[in-house]
Amino acid sequence: MNLNKIYRVAFLGAVASLFGCTAKDDFPGLEYAPNMYHSVAYEPLKQIKDKEAGMWVNSSEYEVGEYYSSNPNNPHEMNMREPVPNTVRRGKYLPYRIPKDSLELASRILKNPLDSTAEVIAEGKRLYGIFCSHCHGTNGLEPGPVGEKYAGVPSYQSPALKNMTQGHIFHVLSRGKGRMPSHASQLSIEERWEIARYVQVLQNQ
Ligand code: HEC
Repeated sequence: MNLNKIYRVAFLGAVASLFGCTAKDDFPGLEYAPNMYHSVAYEPLKQIKDKEAGMWVNSSEYEVGEYYSSNPNNPHEMNMREPVPNTVRRGKYLPYRIPKDSLELASRILKNPLDSTAEVIAEGKRLYGIFCSHCHGTNGLEPGPVGEKYAGVPSYQSPALKNMTQGHIFHVLSRGKGRMPSHASQLSIEERWEIARYVQVLQNQ
């Protein structure tokens, strides 16, 4: 055997051994450099306290992703802190609790916490352009391109809607009404109040 052949056999052997590491489903195969496969950042849903875990090739079909991931600064080395007992996460405003069928109540008791300043109107107008105008039209009087197909979109100046209160608009945005879908999942409470101020401008334009 000449040298060339020996190299060729050695090369084919190396290739064969590399491809020999099977990887299937969620088993990534052998890990030669585990810290290239696993996040260095704390993984919130993991809590592996063993510092040696995954340091050397130990991925088997039964131990996928076992790699040290614990936050030593938290109690019990938890990665994800538990919320303070008896608390509800919120931003500046309390969660909205008035149920869908209480539109009359909402119209009467809710007050818009935001004044009708130039900034609030500008932001309300921007959001209205993204979330409402395709159904309600840019001026809120004639249906927009989607509203033309999606029948039943009213004008904000119709006799029934001309004098809607801010609370009424906020409630409809939060809970939906008839064929008007709720926008609570895509607009924060503050954004809904900003839009309500802009709808007020359209009611009175
Ligand atoms: C998919 C189309 C659609 C979108 C998007 C939409 N609306 Fe409506 N909206 C409607 C329809 C249809 C009605 C009539 C509801 C009914 O009474 O059946 C309506 C009714 C309303 C009413 C009157 C509710 C009442 O008491 O009669 C207000 C106020 C309103 N929409 C505001 C908005 C605002 C503000 C946005 C943007 C955040 C918006 N809508 C987005 C379709 C839409």
